[in-house]
Amino acid sequence: KKGRWIRVAELSALSKDQPMSAAVIGEQVDAWTKAPAVRLGTVWLRVLPDEKVAAWNAECPHLGCKVGYNAEQSHFGCPCHDSAFSMDGEVKGGPAPRGLDPLEARVQDGHVEVRFVRFRAQIKERIEV
Ligand code: FES
Repeated sequence: KKGRWIRVAELSALSKDQPMSAAVIGEQVDAWTKAPAVRLGTVWLRVLPDEKVAAWNAECPHLGCKVGYNAEQSHFGCPCHDSAFSMDGEVKGGPAPRGLDPLEARVQDGHVEVRFVRFRAQIKERIEV
């Protein structure tokens, strides 16, 4: 099932200064099996000035490598082909065809939850896979 809300972090673990990455762990359900605790992906989380939580899928929109965070330069960077993204996920350089993919995020009982979806790499448009 796509786009489920998944709990990824405690709100108190986040700060406004630095984004934090979190593993997305969820059940993978198909018609026959239900396997618990499968890693579905990684997200970057950041508390915005208005206290809302922003979330991005950490998969690079270029070829899907995991994007990291460069604290010295305050930007997100992909180790594979040097795509760079601003703190708001906008492309700053490199071959990425679009910015980091934003995800819906909400806070429930002191926990951050994201609606986890993945998007096709290598194209400008955001098409869910
Ligand atoms: Fe990120 Fe190529 S996969 S720059």
